[in-house]
Amino acid sequence: MNSNFSHITVLLDEAVEGLAVRADGCYIDGTFGRGGHSRLILQTLGAEGRLLGFDKDPLAIATGNALAADDGRFVVVQRSFAELAEEAAVRGIDGKISGILLDLGVSSPQLDDAERGFSFLNDGPLDMRMDPDRGVSAAQFIATASEEEIARVFKEYGEERFAKRMARAVVQRRSEQAFERTADLAQVLTVANPAWEKGKNPATRAFQGLRIYINNELGDLERGLDAALESLEVGGRLVVISFHSLEDRIVKQFMRKHAKGEADKLPRDLPIIPKAFEPRLKLIGKPVFASEAELKANPRSRSAVMRIAEKVR
Ligand SMILES: C[S@@+](CC[C@H](N)C(=O)[O-])C[C@H]1O[C@@H](n2cnc3c(N)ncnc32)[C@H](O)[C@@H]1O
Repeated sequence: MNSNFSHITVLLDEAVEGLAVRADGCYIDGTFGRGGHSRLILQTLGAEGRLLGFDKDPLAIATGNALAADDGRFVVVQRSFAELAEEAAVRGIDGKISGILLDLGVSSPQLDDAERGFSFLNDGPLDMRMDPDRGVSAAQFIATASEEEIARVFKEYGEERFAKRMARAVVQRRSEQAFERTADLAQVLTVANPAWEKGKNPATRAFQGLRIYINNELGDLERGLDAALESLEVGGRLVVISFHSLEDRIVKQFMRKHAKGEADKLPRDLPIIPKAFEPRLKLIGKPVFASEAELKANPRSRSAVMRIAEKVR
């Protein structure tokens, strides 16, 4: 693993503004990465403020620990943000968090370092785990899963139209020789994909599907959103940046559901709506996208969409 790759933070000012940082507040950065958002939050916090960072990735944690050594207001833990409620409870800050930021997906260092095995462009070991010490690698999954399961992962998480065909090609090839390298898998997927999209590597969708599956990204997001709602104080902000439609759909539906409440489940003529049916979130503004200037400086920001909500109950 190489620690020399850097990450350009997406929607940096917009996300920290969205958190409406209070000088004495207690904040969570659920996706520390290389700490771009965290550093700006710390600049905005006062001496009484606190920031707790999460990341699954050992190199992100190393960067976080270096920052924590310099700044006593900050700590970082190697844990999924899906478990942020448990971590907050241990620290006695559950229900007291003033703002939570999730900047989803993978960081540029993870994609750029071929040794992490995320890239179909740079050949590396077929791994794809954000935390390489936990769970099953992409190579292990591809070696053992059924053809149907591989097709489901390509289709459900990669939105790959030709998932079945591509899974069949993978299973056929693995019976002769196991997949160990990203370029080898990308090559087989490329040949099996009958309809190349303009400007897109034919293995892109299948690789995205694998990555999301291997890291349980959508499951973690669903758990993380529920945990965030429970852990925030009333008036606290939830800011989420998504990079593809599957993530954004989950975030949008979650925020809308809790901003609407459940009064429509009650008889229409009920004079008073019980508290348990009232909204728990208020939507703040419209979805935010990267500005022209940011798009020019960082093409990765093209697919970013940020949503903000505030806890009202
Ligand atoms: C887009 S990057 C965040 C970049 C960061 N905001 C910055 O400015 O440097 C996403 C990071 O979140 C981490 N990550 C993704 N899902 C996670 C999860 N469920 N729990 C903890 N960390 C996660 C990844 O390892 C990666 O480092």
